[in-house]
Amino acid sequence: MFGAMSAPKGTNLTWHVGEVDKDARAAAHGHRGAVLWFTGLSGSGKSTIGHRVERMLVDRGAFAYVLDGDNIRHGLNSDLGFSPEDREENIRRIGEVSRLFADAGALVVSAFISPYRTDRDRIRGLMGEGEFVEVFVDTPLEICEARDPKGLYKKARAGEISNFTGLDAPYEAPQNPEVHLLTAGLSVDEAAAQVVRYLEEQNILGDS
Ligand code: ADX
Repeated sequence: MFGAMSAPKGTNLTWHVGEVDKDARAAAHGHRGAVLWFTGLSGSGKSTIGHRVERMLVDRGAFAYVLDGDNIRHGLNSDLGFSPEDREENIRRIGEVSRLFADAGALVVSAFISPYRTDRDRIRGLMGEGEFVEVFVDTPLEICEARDPKGLYKKARAGEISNFTGLDAPYEAPQNPEVHLLTAGLSVDEAAAQVVRYLEEQNILGDS
């Protein structure tokens, strides 16, 4: 069963405990579920490295799945923008979805800027011991801006986008991430391998 939950608005609700527990799911998948929470600036490489991690994990038979910022904002969170309140709600919903996937036994790669420390820590607090792996994709702003894969930094500098993370909106870097990727000197493969190595060291990958 889940740990801390926010109090529901509805009443007369009962939590139903199923027949299959975490151990049974882990036995079926060959590993336990966990959330690999990638955080970093826009253009830092979260999605690219996250997808490579997913590839590496699936190639060895694991149940892995990427939740990605831009994609989720087209669907589940299409009603949210980039104000502090909307970002908080964006991350809250994704945290809940990530937890559900992890409970289902997946290694969830969640790749969102998630600029606020308290929002990330709240998700950590929802998860069990060792089930939340914070991956700091540490790419300096200058490099992200020089890459500018979507042309958004240019637009933000021109005043066409406001509240842009790293420019006129804050990014609170993790202070104690489980994995710290200093991407400037790393290839995508090397960065992804660093994450997979951490999972191996922590025995999160089990038989897979
Ligand atoms: S978060 O801050 O709420 O975690 P999220 O990861 O979902 O952000 O979405 C970030 C993506 O939205 C960026 O990679 C970029 O493509 C796009 N985007 C559009 N407007 C902004 C903005 N003002 N700040 C940051 N990213 C933005």
